Amino acid sequence: MITIRLVTFEDLELITNMGRRTFIEAFAHLNNPVHFNAYLNSHHVLEAVEIEFNNPKNQFYIAEVDFKPAGLCKLVLNENEGHPKLQKYTCLELERIYVLKQFQGRGIGNYLFKKAEEIGRDNNFEILWLGVWEKNLKAIEIYKKWGFSVFATHIFDLGGDLQTDLMMKKHLTV
Ligand SMILES: CC(C)(COP(=O)(O)OP(=O)(O)OC[C@H]1O[C@@H](n2cnc3c(N)ncnc32)[C@H](O)[C@@H]1OP(=O)(O)O)[C@@H](O)C(=O)NCCC(=O)NCCS
Repeated sequence: MITIRLVTFEDLELITNMGRRTFIEAFAHLNNPVHFNAYLNSHHVLEAVEIEFNNPKNQFYIAEVDFKPAGLCKLVLNENEGHPKLQKYTCLELERIYVLKQFQGRGIGNYLFKKAEEIGRDNNFEILWLGVWEKNLKAIEIYKKWGFSVFATHIFDLGGDLQTDLMMKKHLTV
């Protein structure tokens, strides 16, 4: 049974560890360790996650399988990065969607995405969008399956390594 719930203050250590673990499992072997560790130790740490949690623009959700933590996502309300192709719309960003390796391929990502879509529609956001590393081909394929399409690129600073992210969007009002 998969359930999704809003993250509370008591969950912050848990989601920090989940995010850290998934980030390492998915990306450590593809990056220079100096840049990777710089990013990991500035962003995937409790103090940083707590600051994000305390910002009312952000909402974190956790997915559980039979009450065991399996995945998480972060939504950023009213975020468009000032991008000209987003500016005229109300936008919801799906900033982080992570499923622990042992739970991947079991529909949990799909549940988290559906939750993001539901929140977007219920709150009259016109666009759901995300940024994904151009080398994360698996995630790009999955996002296309979910109805996202590439509309731009932006630079993502991974601890001093400037990487290209594809920006992908899905219109929620059509
Ligand atoms: C990307 C990620 C969130 C997807 O979550 P998941 O739980 O593994 O995905 P699901 O099991 O819900 O599968 C989603 C769909 O993608 C399909 N899929 C799974 N693996 C795939 C692959 N390698 N290529 C293409 N499609 C794939 C599934 O068949 C499913 O399609 P369906 O809904 O039509 O059945 C997860 O794999 C993950 O956390 N990866 C590591 C971190 C990461 O890259 N996050 C994204 C950062 S932008």
